[in-house]
Amino acid sequence: MPTTSVIIPAAGAGRRFVATAAAERTPAAAAPQGKVFAMLAGRPVLAHTLARFAAVEDVVEVVVAVAADRVAWAAETFGREIAPGHRLVFTAGGQDRTESVERALAATDPRTEIVAIHDAVRPLIRPAVIAEAIRVAAQSGAAVVGRPVDHTVKRVADGRRVVETVPRDRLWLAQTPQVFRRELLMRAYAERRRVTAAVTDDAQLIEAMGLAVYMVQGDAANLKITTPEDLGLCEALLAAGWPFES
Ligand code: C5P
Repeated sequence: MPTTSVIIPAAGAGRRFVATAAAERTPAAAAPQGKVFAMLAGRPVLAHTLARFAAVEDVVEVVVAVAADRVAWAAETFGREIAPGHRLVFTAGGQDRTESVERALAATDPRTEIVAIHDAVRPLIRPAVIAEAIRVAAQSGAAVVGRPVDHTVKRVADGRRVVETVPRDRLWLAQTPQVFRRELLMRAYAERRRVTAAVTDDAQLIEAMGLAVYMVQGDAANLKITTPEDLGLCEALLAAGWPFES
């Protein structure tokens, strides 16, 4: 199997999360440092995420982008969260997620064949799904974990008046990890300033180069923690025994 580097952008301020937690006086209000370090079933969210990747055989290193003033603290706190023989590095992130990924990419070992990018705030990713995305990326170049849309989709105008029901039959929601052959991702990031549309995920940069990206079916439980409600949902899933296979 191909050697894989993992990039985990974890340098966001998580302003929505902190503001909502404080306003609603939820238990998550006790995590003023943001959602990445909020406690989930007794451990910080990031510790869960690192453990999921440590369970994947092909992964040889993980590079985590954190806020510049947290690099030393994070290395000290999370240094033991990775499997023996894996390299774990903390680097300073940037102004936005794309810049954080770019900096982390520069800190990866250039000899690995595959690079997987995963949001720190998706702690319930299943190792089997990560492995499948790595397999598809090795074969085709680029793979994105996601889910087919199963809700009815409405487009609204100002005032929330519905203007259209969007056919959902070919729509998918993109999650992470997003996994790429190293040389493709390096090229996509080198050319990223040519993309004029708002960039909300990494695969978009590959698509902008006219290259194929394939979806890999993931789990609805691969939640992205944005609000304290999401943290509560993750907590409930873990209490119920997620991932149910093991
Ligand atoms: O803000 P959003 O929820 O889209 O963030 C997604 C991920 O990107 C989070 O894990 C966050 O920590 C990370 N991020 C980052 N650097 C930034 C902004 C966000 O690493 N400057």
